[in-house]
Amino acid sequence: MNIGIIGCGNISRAYFNGAKNTDLLTIKACADMRLEAAKERAEQYGVEALSVEELLADPEIELVVNLTIPRAHVEVGLQCLEAGKHTYSEKPFGVDIESGKRLVDKGRETGLRVGCAPDTFLGAGVQTSRKAVDEGAIGRPIAGTAFMCGHGHESWHPNPAFYYDLGGGPMLDMGPYYVTALVNILGPVKRVAAVTTKAFNERLATSDGAKGQVLPVHVTTHLAGTIEFVNGCIVTMIMSFDMWRHALPCIELYGTEGSIKVPDPNGFGGDVRVAKSRGEWESVELAFPNNARMIGVIDMVQAIKSGRPHRVSGDLAYHVLEVMTAFDRSSESGEHIVMQSTVARPAAMPTGLAEWAVEA
Ligand SMILES: NC(=O)c1ccc[n+]([C@@H]2O[C@H](COP(=O)([O-])OP(=O)(O)OC[C@H]3O[C@@H](n4cnc5c(N)ncnc54)[C@H](O)[C@@H]3O)[C@@H](O)[C@H]2O)c1
Repeated sequence: MNIGIIGCGNISRAYFNGAKNTDLLTIKACADMRLEAAKERAEQYGVEALSVEELLADPEIELVVNLTIPRAHVEVGLQCLEAGKHTYSEKPFGVDIESGKRLVDKGRETGLRVGCAPDTFLGAGVQTSRKAVDEGAIGRPIAGTAFMCGHGHESWHPNPAFYYDLGGGPMLDMGPYYVTALVNILGPVKRVAAVTTKAFNERLATSDGAKGQVLPVHVTTHLAGTIEFVNGCIVTMIMSFDMWRHALPCIELYGTEGSIKVPDPNGFGGDVRVAKSRGEWESVELAFPNNARMIGVIDMVQAIKSGRPHRVSGDLAYHVLEVMTAFDRSSESGEHIVMQSTVARPAAMPTGLAEWAVEA
C-alpha cells in the first residue's frame, strides 16, 4: 500500500525509519505546511515532497499518516477521510471529545479506517504484561498505580510550545501511552475522579532551537486522579510536568494473588516483573518482539487487506481521550465523570511472530 505522511517534524523520522522494516507499505510522499520541512525529509528518505493538497489528491496514496501537532490532528484527519484515504494520526486523537467524535463519526460514515498512536502497547513490554495478567499471574486485578512525572519537554524539544497549548500538558501528551496500556490490559473505563492544577502560567524553553522562548501554559500540568475500570480495578494516576526528582514506578497492578510491574508504556520493550503474594519480584521472559513506531500502521495496512479489525484504532483512542479529558472535567465540576464511550480490548498480539510481522 502506498502511504503519505503529513507533518514532517521531530517524530517523523521514527516513522520513515520504521517503514524500512516492512514490505507491506511504501511511503510515496510527504507534506507539511512548511514545504521546507517536507523537502528535508523527502531528500533524507528518497520520497516525493508535495503540498498537503497535492498529497491528498494523489490517487495512488491510500492511507495518510498524520504527524502534525495535536491541535491539527482532527482537522487533517477529516481532510484525509474526505479525500477518500484511511488515516492514522499521532496522539492525542484530538484536543477535546467533541472534535474527536467528529473524526470517529466521519470514519464510520466513509467506511474508511481511522487509527491513532500510540502503538507502543503492541510491543513486548505491554503485550507480555497483558499475557501474564490474562493467564492469572496476579489473580484478579484489584488496584493499580500509573505515574508519569517530570518537568516537561521544553529542555529538549526544538519547538516545545505545543506541549503547553490545548492538546498538550502531561495528560494529553503522555497519558495516551499510560491509559492505552491500561485499557489494553484491564479493558474499558467506567468513571474518573480527579483534581488538577498547574504550577506555572509561563515556562521558559531551554532547548536548542527554542532557548529563551517564553511558553504560555494553557493546560493543567499536574493531574491526580482515580480511574475505575469496568472490571472493578481502581488505578491511581498522577501525570505531571511540575515534578523534578521522584521515585515513582511507571505502572504497577495489584491482584488477589500478586503484583506486576509493567515497563514504561512509552517504550516497546522493558523488564516485566511479577511478585507472587509475599514473594520477591521476578522477571518474566518477554514473549513478543519489541518492534518500534510504525508497527501500528503496519497492523492497520494488513488489517485492511485481510478485512480484520486493526488494533491501534480510532475507537480505542477516542475512549482513551474521553478518559484523559475527564480528569480536568472532574476537577472543574467536583464530580465523578462517567464514560459515555466504551471499547473492546484490541486482540492480543499472537506469540511466535518475527520482528515487524503481524498476522494476516
Ligand atoms: N517528538 C516526539 O518525541 C514525539 C513522540 C511521540 C509522539 N509525538 C507526537 O507527534 C506529533 C508531532 O510531534 P513532533 O515532535 O514531530 O512536532 P513538530 O512540531 O516537530 O512537527 C510537527 C510538524 O507538523 C507540521 N504541521 C502542523 N500543523 C500542520 C497542518 N495543519 N498541516 C500540515 N502540517 C502541519 C509542522 O509544520 C511541523 O513540521 C505530536 O502530536 C506529538 O505529540 C512526538
